Amino acid sequence: MLARAPELPADEVFLDLEDSVAPLAKERARANVVAALKGGDWSGHTRAVRVNDATARWAYRDVIDVVEGAGDSLDCLVLPKVESVAHVQWLDLLLGQVEAAVGLPVGRIGIEAQIESARGLVAVDAIAGASPRLETIVFGPADFMASVNLPTLVVGEQPPGYDVGDAYHYVLFKLLVAARANDLQVIDGPYLAVHDLDGFRRVAGRSAALGFDGKWVLHPGQIEPANEIYAPSQADFERAETVLEAYAYWTSADGGMRGAAMLGSEMIDEASRKMSLVVSAKGRAAGLVRTSRFEPPA
Ligand code: GLV
Ligand code: MG
Repeated sequence: MLARAPELPADEVFLDLEDSVAPLAKERARANVVAALKGGDWSGHTRAVRVNDATARWAYRDVIDVVEGAGDSLDCLVLPKVESVAHVQWLDLLLGQVEAAVGLPVGRIGIEAQIESARGLVAVDAIAGASPRLETIVFGPADFMASVNLPTLVVGEQPPGYDVGDAYHYVLFKLLVAARANDLQVIDGPYLAVHDLDGFRRVAGRSAALGFDGKWVLHPGQIEPANEIYAPSQADFERAETVLEAYAYWTSADGGMRGAAMLGSEMIDEASRKMSLVVSAKGRAAGLVRTSRFEPPA
């Protein structure tokens, strides 16, 4: 898996030392992770490692071994089961010590905080502002479902009997707002039934519709659906870019310097411009290409 990962079209690759590694294999896993980071050609991918959580006995040595061994080949650490500001600050300080000791710029390695418990969710607003190293808030649906006693065993699916909406809406939206209030990315967690691509699409579609930036994938088969679902549609991308061009025209001297204008049957204003910037940036990041242009009136 480690040998194959660099070739896959995922934006980020994270190597796990936490729950997918059995306790007796934890020590050995660190060396595998260091070797994979140093040995692979990861160009084009953000490189991350998930260490054990801040209360686990493996956590400090995970950080020290991985950053001492491969800190220059690493972009971020994923800290799971974050429940307080102190968890993030612990990692921030330890990272600073190891970076300084190995001659890396202090602050170079980012942190992704995974929220996957009732406590973590309650504290997420403060957690999201806990360190300038924070780049991303990540949802951990499996642990979260266990934490709140959600009575289903299928991660990400609606609990049986809940047929009045999305049982995860509150969680997802709270994570989204906490992340955006601190200019962070927000990423949905794993869908464990790796061969059920319809299920993956269904669950991913919900967080994508709220504006999440992406979702973990556990299997190569989930990558293409994820890349498609979290990118804007071509039509939305074209529309967003048209709004930007039209608004730039109408607010220029040529267009009469108006604050609000019509585009077809729709009014566009400064807020439309901001909404369109989001869709346009996501589309460009996903490699979408414009096929039309806004034509100013003759
Ligand atoms: C991932 O860590 C999860 O708990 O869903
Ligand atoms: Mg978890």
